[in-house]
Amino acid sequence: MLSVLAIIHRCSIASGFLFSAAVFGLVCGCTKPQDPVFVESQRAKKLVPEIRQAIKTELANKFGTVPNPDCPSWFPIERGGIEGKIRSVKERTEDGRIVRLKIRYSGEAPEVVAGDVVEILLDPETILEAELEAAEDGRISAAYPYKVKVAEFNKISGVITLAEPLCELAEKGSPCVVKPNETLRTGRELYKHYCQKCHAATGDGNGPQAHMLKPKPRDLRLGVVKYTTTKANCKASSEDLRILLKGGIPGTAMPAFQILGNHEIDALVQYTKYLSMRGEIERGLCIESEIDFSQAALDEQLAEAESEQERKAIKKQFQKEVDEFLKIDFPEIAYDISADVAEKWAQADDPDCQFEVPGSRPEGTAPSKAEPSISSLANGKILYLSTSTQCASCHGLTGKGDGDQVSKVQKRPDGSDYDEPGLHDIWGNVVVPRDLTYGVFHGASNPDEETSHAVYRAIATGVKGTPMPAYGAKGLTQDQIWDLVNYVFYLAGEYKDVDPESLDVEPKSE
Ligand code: HEC
Ligand code: HEC
Repeated sequence: MLSVLAIIHRCSIASGFLFSAAVFGLVCGCTKPQDPVFVESQRAKKLVPEIRQAIKTELANKFGTVPNPDCPSWFPIERGGIEGKIRSVKERTEDGRIVRLKIRYSGEAPEVVAGDVVEILLDPETILEAELEAAEDGRISAAYPYKVKVAEFNKISGVITLAEPLCELAEKGSPCVVKPNETLRTGRELYKHYCQKCHAATGDGNGPQAHMLKPKPRDLRLGVVKYTTTKANCKASSEDLRILLKGGIPGTAMPAFQILGNHEIDALVQYTKYLSMRGEIERGLCIESEIDFSQAALDEQLAEAESEQERKAIKKQFQKEVDEFLKIDFPEIAYDISADVAEKWAQADDPDCQFEVPGSRPEGTAPSKAEPSISSLANGKILYLSTSTQCASCHGLTGKGDGDQVSKVQKRPDGSDYDEPGLHDIWGNVVVPRDLTYGVFHGASNPDEETSHAVYRAIATGVKGTPMPAYGAKGLTQDQIWDLVNYVFYLAGEYKDVDPESLDVEPKSE
């Protein structure tokens, strides 16, 4: 299977649309019928067929298929597998490529069976270079195939016979991995069982149960997680995803998977990242391609043609540009986007990305540290109603989530009006500011953490992908944020003994 993907990849360069479609057919034919396939995004469907196919091929090459997930070794995904180095070469083809070999494993030697995969670990720059060089003179890249199936394994000698020769770049000493993607495969099985009905096989959030739910299951393909413990500009950390899956999202349909063991949760975390990165790369490739190669762009050009001859010339020119784009720019763009996505996910696990909630929640009725002449609650109220924070414009004067902005028609990033009034998130869905009077906080999935910390984080770092701003970056101090946290709990009914009028006080300036 994996070597088939490598073949498909070559086709993208040789523009073998029909051939790779046929290979896809074969691949699908030999898997269980109930296995779904990855679906193309709406955005990709607007591109001309050659570009759509190139994106599909790129994704299949990097990420495999639903039943056979795959990902580049350099992605920050723990995909599984046993690492080692080629220890000795037992047989080569006439042109010197390895077909029989022994591996020195860095850990315990694995049980290998026919059909397992051996992958040579090539760094991404080497692959890109070899690809571009090959595209230039119409050859098959020297970097393919770097993943090959095992035909036979001799248990006594440990010699592996491969089903086809490895790429030219494999040699004695090359780092390699046997059975890559085992964790991803486990993740896939668990995902199918526990997540697919809501998030769908592709992670687009359109599972069969999705239409009944509000908020809708997340479309994972944007790679944005709302409730994290990371800074506003960072992605979710692996630990965030673990806590999310264990604790669910309070107040939504996203369940807490407490029945799953740590090993299973970990596999699901990797699979969630896998679907996210796959989606982000598809999106990135669409954004880069759609300016010039959307079907609409071609149709617009054709509409201006005054004769059949002119139409033909336009088509020919367009085709030439498509071919050049696919041969020269596309591999580099795909590399840049992948490297960028991979780096951002890797960074999220870096301690630098972690947002530490400073200190702990002060007493609400005690003097505010930010405005010592009044209580923390009173100062929280002033801040909540102030024109600089605008909390009330979204959450409403009493925190019911019914501020003015909820009934206004808002603008899309491109300047056009949304169809429905109300705030929208980056997924294009209407998002209602939290009704703070319920006291249920979606970011509070960690049972080992004070709820006040989740509220602090929401105010300081915002809720990612939504209009809820990150006030830490807007200049609110830590003490001010704690006062707001207290006021949020006041709105949720926590300070029943406090006389509401006692909060309507002005700070005495020194
Ligand atoms: C019953 C439906 C349902 C099932 C089953 C389900 N989810 Fe969700 N999931 C949701 C909903 C709804 C949301 C969005 C909640 C929101 O917007 O606050 C969500 C959100 C998420 C998010 C985004 C969290 C964030 O902070 O933005 C991730 C990641 C996720 N789910 C992964 C999974 C995984 C992995 C599984 C399986 C182990 C799973 N979900 C199972 C409904 C579901
Ligand atoms: C532009 C509109 C807007 C403004 C201004 C705004 N919020 Fe929000 N807020 C939202 C939205 C939308 C959500 C829900 C996001 C989601 O979870 O999907 C939210 C969520 C929240 C949450 C819930 C977090 C959780 O974990 O459930 C809290 C608490 C909150 N806001 C407090 C505040 C405070 C305090 C202020 C002012 C300092 C404020 N908000 C200003 C729109 C806004």
